[in-house]
Amino acid sequence: MPITITVRKNGSLGINAEDAAQIVLLDHEGKVIPPRAEGRPMSLCRCGASKVKPFCDGSHKELGFIDPADPMDNPDLPQG
Ligand code: FES
Repeated sequence: MPITITVRKNGSLGINAEDAAQIVLLDHEGKVIPPRAEGRPMSLCRCGASKVKPFCDGSHKELGFIDPADPMDNPDLPQG
């Protein structure tokens, strides 16, 4: 099964893999950022409010983060 990245509605980017060791998160210098919680799906913030960036801490709920648009409605994305 491929590694999947899910754009969660009004929330984070959920990254899942059959084996969590397949997911390696790097900083801008190429250093490994250890997962926040071993054995749990990785969830990355895209609202900007998390206090544990790059991970989601649930702050998007308090912020009332709303997706700017449905990514599937973007005409500039390849279809199919
Ligand atoms: S997306 Fe969850 S805290 Fe930003």
